[in-house]
Amino acid sequence: MTCALGNTARIVTLDATGAYRTFLEIEALHSTELAAGALAHMPPGFLASFYRYLATRPDCVVVVAENEGHVTGFVAGTLQASILLKSFVLAKPLEMAGHGAKLLLDPRLLFRVVSLALNLVAGDKQSHLDDRQLLSIAVDPNSGRMGIGTELFKTLCDWFRLRGAEDFEIIAATTQAAALQFYHRRGAVVVGETTLGGLGSIRFRYVLRPVG
Ligand SMILES: CC(C)(COP(=O)(O)OP(=O)(O)OC[C@H]1O[C@@H](n2cnc3c(N)ncnc32)[C@H](O)[C@@H]1OP(=O)(O)O)[C@@H](O)C(=O)NCCC(=O)NCCS
Repeated sequence: MTCALGNTARIVTLDATGAYRTFLEIEALHSTELAAGALAHMPPGFLASFYRYLATRPDCVVVVAENEGHVTGFVAGTLQASILLKSFVLAKPLEMAGHGAKLLLDPRLLFRVVSLALNLVAGDKQSHLDDRQLLSIAVDPNSGRMGIGTELFKTLCDWFRLRGAEDFEIIAATTQAAALQFYHRRGAVVVGETTLGGLGSIRFRYVLRPVG
């Protein structure tokens, strides 16, 4: 699905036919703008492959904002957060073995990634994390505060709504000041605190209002 955002900009929901270059640009944005998180430090190619995998799953969505063919922002969401990392690893065993071997050289990062996976897998059983999650959102700082994040967020909300969801959860590191402000501004409500992948984080719930 595509919708216009000014003259040369547009919002695009990706699928498996998305160019690999697009996923590499998402990886670059994730690595710089979400650097506090463990996944930003995975070996090159991991995140591009992960986001491409998400784009192929019917229970996940990856949306990008593009300007003149380049990614200026993205958002990803899911209906099933607790199974994602595990199913990704099982879907790409050889590629994951390569990344795993590199991770052994960085035990601290390995610990954070394992901890993140366990937090997600524990899901609603232990930490009461919701399966319906905004997984990540980032906008190129050169295009910040121009409404791109808001448009991406609205597209994600439409995707959740179409799948019958009434709400979803958002987890943001306490260090991501702009994101905390952004979620407040969108109307998300703080429901608690948690630690995700070793990072102190705020949990928000966003209630989807029916359209019309
Ligand atoms: C959060 C983020 C996606 C917002 O994207 P954006 O395109 O700049 O958002 P918008 O232009 O739609 O801004 C809407 C509101 O967000 C808030 N906001 C955005 N950038 C902000 C900043 N640097 N400082 C404070 N508030 C900010 C403001 O409330 C803003 O409204 P206003 O400009 O009328 O005050 C972007 O700042 C970002 O990529 N941050 C780094 C990555 C991150 O932390 N992601 C969340 C991880 S959970």
